[in-house]
Amino acid sequence: MKRLAAIVVLSALGCRGQTSEEPPVALLRNMHQQQRYNPQARSRMFADGRTMRPPVEGTVPFGSLIDDARVATGREEDNSAYVPTVPEPVVSQATYRDDQGRRHEGMDALTLRGHERFNIYCAPCHGRAGDGLGMVYLRSRRPSVGFPYPQPANLHDARVRHMPDGQLYATISNGVRNMPSYAAQVPVNDRWAIVAYVRALELSQAPNDGAMP
Ligand code: HEC
Repeated sequence: MKRLAAIVVLSALGCRGQTSEEPPVALLRNMHQQQRYNPQARSRMFADGRTMRPPVEGTVPFGSLIDDARVATGREEDNSAYVPTVPEPVVSQATYRDDQGRRHEGMDALTLRGHERFNIYCAPCHGRAGDGLGMVYLRSRRPSVGFPYPQPANLHDARVRHMPDGQLYATISNGVRNMPSYAAQVPVNDRWAIVAYVRALELSQAPNDGAMP
């Protein structure tokens, strides 16, 4: 009887709605709480001391494997030369929705997308017109800057105009001399889109050899 009274009193006192800083009593811990590492934390288990393990060499991020060598590298299957034109699968799969919601396909879509990407990623150095007089270049020439950035190529030079499409693609992917690679910022299909747009830009300013009506 005494014991019953004690249980009644204690349970009445126990539920007064106070807050507690103590962790809740977990009768069965299961897997709710278990040891783990925090991101970027140190580990004594691995020789390099990192808990975040680098991916196995040759790992390809899910969904980004391109098994068409011409599309991936801009070079022929046998690596003998650059591909002359944007590979067909890239063109046929391209779609683009413009500001008015109109849907474009094929080369049309690729060029529109390339226009957008070119103005974001290439124009700061090469200029919107592709003449190599972008803002980065011009501003770096101000005496107060103290570091004159090397002159970006004029994309209307005969040398660039006569490059195969694959070489333009490879330039974006790998960089060239003073130009850094843009592979990390620009995904493969967008690189080809930029190539398509650069070709249109070049045509628009090319000496009129009858190609443009
Ligand atoms: C950070 C500035 C910068 C950006 C951004 C940039 N380039 Fe360049 N690019 C250069 C410079 C500088 C050169 C000249 C490199 C040299 O000759 O040393 C160059 C050269 C080139 C060439 C000539 C390559 C050759 O073989 O002579 C092409 C084509 C080109 N860029 C295309 C592009 C395209 C397309 C983009 C956008 C994806 C781009 N560049 C973005 C700075 C840039």
